[in-house]
Amino acid sequence: MPLSIVRNAELKSLNTFGVAASAASLITLEHESQLAELRAALADGPAPFVLGAGSNVLFTAEVPGTVLRVRLRGVRIVSDDAHGVVVEAAAGEDWDALVRWSLEQHCYGLENLALIPGTAGAAPIQNIGAYGVELSDVFESLDAIDLDSGVTATMSVADCAFGYRDSVFKRTGAGRWLVLRVRLRLARRAQLRLEHGDIGLALSAAGIASPTPADVAAAVRRVRRAKLPDPAQLGNAGSFFKNPIVSTAQAQRLLAGNPGVPNYPAVLDGAAARKLSAAWLIESCGWKGARDGDAGVDTRHALVLVNHGQATGAQLLGLAARIRDSVEERFGVRLEAEAVLLPRPPDWER
Ligand code: EPU
Repeated sequence: MPLSIVRNAELKSLNTFGVAASAASLITLEHESQLAELRAALADGPAPFVLGAGSNVLFTAEVPGTVLRVRLRGVRIVSDDAHGVVVEAAAGEDWDALVRWSLEQHCYGLENLALIPGTAGAAPIQNIGAYGVELSDVFESLDAIDLDSGVTATMSVADCAFGYRDSVFKRTGAGRWLVLRVRLRLARRAQLRLEHGDIGLALSAAGIASPTPADVAAAVRRVRRAKLPDPAQLGNAGSFFKNPIVSTAQAQRLLAGNPGVPNYPAVLDGAAARKLSAAWLIESCGWKGARDGDAGVDTRHALVLVNHGQATGAQLLGLAARIRDSVEERFGVRLEAEAVLLPRPPDWER
């Protein structure tokens, strides 16, 4: 099957914000046998932007370069022994389908990551996380091809240098490495992670005292459905901002004047620090449920920007900038985008 290459491609149906934009070129990779053709197509141009399900990106304007859509498929168990089960998923596999499949196979560890939109190949890029678990907790390794040299490398957890919503791929710039498949180390005997308050509340609301992994996944689904808008109903890309990590001293100063700010232990430049709730900061500035034309802030979760219909990427970005600036003015904390901004505007940090 030849590689699909479309010029001036419309991206509206390829991003969960539902924002209209076009890319100079859209390449869709369906099978690894197309890799040589892909490298030839990219040979003289800049690195492409790799797109999975388009669930963590805001197209801020027309995309001048190439968008590379990855649709590689396949899931299998590669080993199953006393050390656990290693499950391998091709980059284009739907993340939540992988969570469901792993539970059906009696492989445990992904319960808390149920219902996260996106693909398996995108999961390590931003080290997806929810309800007390991050991808790095279950990550075994991944295979990625260096699109410049054509060499495929296997990368360990250390190679990926995972951080909070961060990895080596984000720091070195996407595009050079194309993730082909990821491997996760799961367990035959579940070790449930129930620390996050919302999970405990959802389980007790359902009258479940001794949960199974399937119960935890179901509880996570209920919490997400209750708190986060479904992109199929209302365009969004999940949390638009990261929760800011500040020094302990800065957190203490902030908390002295604002004792209600939810804050959690974190690490900043190797030192103990605090992670603050961006949603709380944004809500305190009065943004929850705000709307500027079709660009808005969700009514249920202040960290989620939404497209009520025809919002453009520029309108959503403008709203995000006003939110960021007002939080900085009031609390002295500068929010960074968690969603990828493409093209990235000059006044936005990575
Ligand atoms: N809160 C508010 N206002 C709101 C929403 C929340 O004040 O509108 C407060 C809550 O009361 C709570 C705190 O903020 O005290 C944290 O809220 P929540 O548990 O919803 O988590 P979050 O920090 O806002 C993060 C992730 C989510 C993930 C949840 C659950 C980031 C950027 N976001 O959100 O991930 O689902 O934790 O673990 O870290 C995503 O990445 O797209 C995403 C949705």
